[in-house]
Amino acid sequence: MPTRKDRRPVVAGNWKMHKTAAEAQALARELRNALGVVRDQVEVVLAPPFTALYPVGKALEDSNLYLAAQNCHAEAQGAFTGEVSAPMLKDVGCRYVILGHSERRQLFGETDEGVNRKVKAVFAAGLLPIVCVGETLQEREGGRTLEVVSRQLAGGLAGLDAAAAARAVIAYEPVWAIGTGKTATSAQAQEVHAHIRGWVAQAFGKEVAAAVRIQYGGSVKPDNAAELLGQPDVDGALVGGASLKAADFAAIVKAAFA
Ligand code: 13P
Repeated sequence: MPTRKDRRPVVAGNWKMHKTAAEAQALARELRNALGVVRDQVEVVLAPPFTALYPVGKALEDSNLYLAAQNCHAEAQGAFTGEVSAPMLKDVGCRYVILGHSERRQLFGETDEGVNRKVKAVFAAGLLPIVCVGETLQEREGGRTLEVVSRQLAGGLAGLDAAAAARAVIAYEPVWAIGTGKTATSAQAQEVHAHIRGWVAQAFGKEVAAAVRIQYGGSVKPDNAAELLGQPDVDGALVGGASLKAADFAAIVKAAFA
């Protein structure tokens, strides 16, 4: 079994519905300057809102930072007013698409089946998904965390072949830790990450499980990043609030290879 060092950590900033195009471009430039040196140690991904993808992509051109979208539609084109497709995201320079974020599940009615259609659309467009899973507080308190995460994985990753599964990024984001300042302990995170890797081994084989990268998300900050990212099955972070400040996000990225 390869060691953790065989998996390059991936740290992504989910900017959610924040920043104008100009503000986003300025932040991207700042991060590019601060993180230009991490080429080989950590993969860094920025996910601005749709309206800022193009200018942020321009700011990241010829850099080692990657662009991501926060959602997409499952169809490549058509009469879907207000939606954006995976090929359109590829066209503006994206490499990743965040899918199944808990805010989309809770506020916009996304289902595991819907996430699965989008995952397939993303691969078909030559992009890679960051597939989010995670339990609510009620589910955790009811002892259902591992069952919920398994169900989300089975639904979201259904029908993928091993090669695709190995290239997907999985983000474990306990809903109760998102935007609350309440982070999972490193032991809680490691327990679920190990479970996810075990699930992937069952579904796609040991090699895929050893290769797949699993991010932790939920109130990751500069002062807790090293502890969380130091866990054997934590291969990076999906950062919300702290990714909006260049110094904080840069510190989290640096914690991934400290
Ligand atoms: P916070 O880091 O603000 O808790 O958000 C986490 C998140 O939802 C990233 O996708």
